[in-house]
Amino acid sequence: RKRLTIADLKKMKQEKNRISMLTAYDYPAAKLAEEAGIDIILVGDSLGNVVLGYDTTIPVTLEDMIYHTRAVARGAVHTFIVTDMPFMTYGIGRESTLRNAARIMQEGGAHALKLEGGTEIAAEVSALVKAGIPVMGHIGLTPQSVHQLSGYKVQREARKLMEDAKALEEAGAFAVVLEMVTEPIAESITKELSIPVIGIGAGRSCDGQVLVYHDILQYSSPYISKKFVKTYADIGTTIRDAIESYVHDVKTEAFPAESNVFGAAKQETTEHLY
Ligand code: KIV
Ligand code: NA
Repeated sequence: RKRLTIADLKKMKQEKNRISMLTAYDYPAAKLAEEAGIDIILVGDSLGNVVLGYDTTIPVTLEDMIYHTRAVARGAVHTFIVTDMPFMTYGIGRESTLRNAARIMQEGGAHALKLEGGTEIAAEVSALVKAGIPVMGHIGLTPQSVHQLSGYKVQREARKLMEDAKALEEAGAFAVVLEMVTEPIAESITKELSIPVIGIGAGRSCDGQVLVYHDILQYSSPYISKKFVKTYADIGTTIRDAIESYVHDVKTEAFPAESNVFGAAKQETTEHLY
């Protein structure tokens, strides 16, 4: 299977071919997402919440993003990988933004970066694009600004959102994520832009959809019910039940069984040692 390019993604918008995007943060998740045929893997800074257990994405570091991107890149060799620039690693001056971006590309192995913000970061987006780095914008509910936004709320400022979306397109972004925006606003932005608009909680008209791995799998994601999420499996319950069975087997000495034991007679080895 051939890795998609930003040209392919633009063509998908033109041909009304929906773009599927899912987050992944490690090797097995990336491998499974690729095997399942996902178009884009996002190494989101949501890893702060769902993998590292923080309340917000604010504590996530550049090193965290590089570390997880490397694992994802090893698992999904044929998939287009976008990595989030974390809080305060951009928007603080062109030079440091470029240096931080370069580290995620070189050390992490991402194919593109995602930045939160609109008009206020357009100049930096343009600098990244000129340096050869594909940029995905992210507007609407931008979780790195949760305190400035006074919580995780649906964004309804139509004119401001349109202005931000256009500024990102003009700056050279190849796509924009719209998060928690009303369906009519998302629809008009999707129509207005020639680059793909990928929605999360932004309705049915977007060119693509993105969700968080742990949310669609109910993999120990926070028990807040998110209206815009659809769950496709309950992996959390499966894992907890399996571990309970293991604990039970150890306590009752049902495990290890005879078949799991190395006897004195034969020279047995096991294939995978860590
Ligand atoms: O970090 C993330 O997972 C994201 C998506 C929810 C868009 O930014
Ligand atoms: Na993010």
